Amino acid sequence: MKTQKLTRRQAITITSAGFAGAMLGFPFRSFGIKNGRQLKKLAINGGEKVHTGSWPQWPYWDQSAEPGIIDMFRSGRWWRGGGEYVAEFEKKYAELMGAKRCLATASGTTALLTALHVLGVDAGDEVLVSPFTFIATYNVIFGSKALPVFVDSDPETFLIDPKKIGSRVTERSVAIVPVHIYGLPVDMDSVNKAAKAHNLKVIEDACQAWLAEYRGKRVGSLGDLGCFSFQNSKHLASGEGGAILGNDEDLMDRCNAYHNCGRPYGSMKKIPGNPYNGMNYRMQQSQALILMSQMKRIEKDNDVRLSNALYLDKKLKEIPGIIPYKLAEGATRAVYHLYPFRYIKEQFNNIPKGKFIAALNAEGIPCSSGYGKQNNDGLIEEQLNSKGFKRLFSEARLKQWREENVLPGNDQLCDQAVTFYQSILLGSKSDMDDIVNAIVKIYENRSSLV
Ligand SMILES: Cc1ncc(COP(=O)(O)O)c(C=O)c1O
Repeated sequence: MKTQKLTRRQAITITSAGFAGAMLGFPFRSFGIKNGRQLKKLAINGGEKVHTGSWPQWPYWDQSAEPGIIDMFRSGRWWRGGGEYVAEFEKKYAELMGAKRCLATASGTTALLTALHVLGVDAGDEVLVSPFTFIATYNVIFGSKALPVFVDSDPETFLIDPKKIGSRVTERSVAIVPVHIYGLPVDMDSVNKAAKAHNLKVIEDACQAWLAEYRGKRVGSLGDLGCFSFQNSKHLASGEGGAILGNDEDLMDRCNAYHNCGRPYGSMKKIPGNPYNGMNYRMQQSQALILMSQMKRIEKDNDVRLSNALYLDKKLKEIPGIIPYKLAEGATRAVYHLYPFRYIKEQFNNIPKGKFIAALNAEGIPCSSGYGKQNNDGLIEEQLNSKGFKRLFSEARLKQWREENVLPGNDQLCDQAVTFYQSILLGSKSDMDDIVNAIVKIYENRSSLV
């Protein structure tokens, strides 16, 4: 189950790149070379960079989308109520993802807010959540006046550790938000099993996981509802935008109503002059048109990212102190919104991660640290000390929350994680070799960094 599938063509590309590597004298000890010369002095110390060219830029614009977008603007049908394109996108995205229904939203944040509301998360409830994530994942729980309860991460997979869910459940727990961070699929069978045992609704945060697969099925339709983001950096981008996927018609009707100022939708009973509770979280026509043009490339792009990621996995694991992510049980295809690995500083003369990242950046390889220890960020204390939270949760519960907010797996992960941005993975095999060469060069010259 853990092998990610590549087409025959991709497999051949990887094998031949590996063969070329062997011709150059791999294994890794001779990676720190450029044009046949061994690069000795690190770029951060004034030496020559390993990678001197540029990297693919993101996002790409598809000029063939322009006439349709201009027509739509000229027609004045800019909002979804007056036009057809948002509904068309919803149909196409649901088909692509293998879900019954899709609702497009203004953003991933508003998709999550809608899902939480429709699944009954209310003031004073508790929601279990992955800590290794973007701030929006737990901001929306605070926004629903509920308490996020962080479940520790497994440093090997970078994901929620399903074994640790049970111990964080209380009588107020109503839902869980597993996050397929970086497009790495969570072990959803284990999460769903724990959720069933504790009567929790499951909202997948798939905001970074378009087309990622778990046991051959696309993530985002494996829990009660799944949420996606189409913000500018994403593999499917429209500046801003989001979507909810679901297979339950009634739930999806209620999502539609809530995101559209409470206007009843589908099977919902119409009550004259008495609409339902709701917000305006609608997507615009222009966003839908951009998304439909971007959809033409996402599968091909994801194939390139996967092929390069598998190549990096193979090469990076040969370097002491570099540990690529491990796929969670049941994950069959990751999509790499970022390519993650762990940096074990003890193998690099105890050079701090920040210095390693600076050295790699200096070699012409853009990279960054993963998420910080979000369970300790300032926002949390601000919320817990707010007037509303003090009304909703007893002092004893908040004290217990603080005492239990100890996540050794996640702390380790935050200390060790390093990531490459998704567009780097759209580069060539020789770009990937530059990444490997640069890390080997740093490893071989680690004593000069102290
Ligand atoms: C994991 C995760 N959750 C939620 C969001 C929120 O999505 P948006 O920025 O579209 O509101 C993002 C966006 O970056 C994300 O990466």
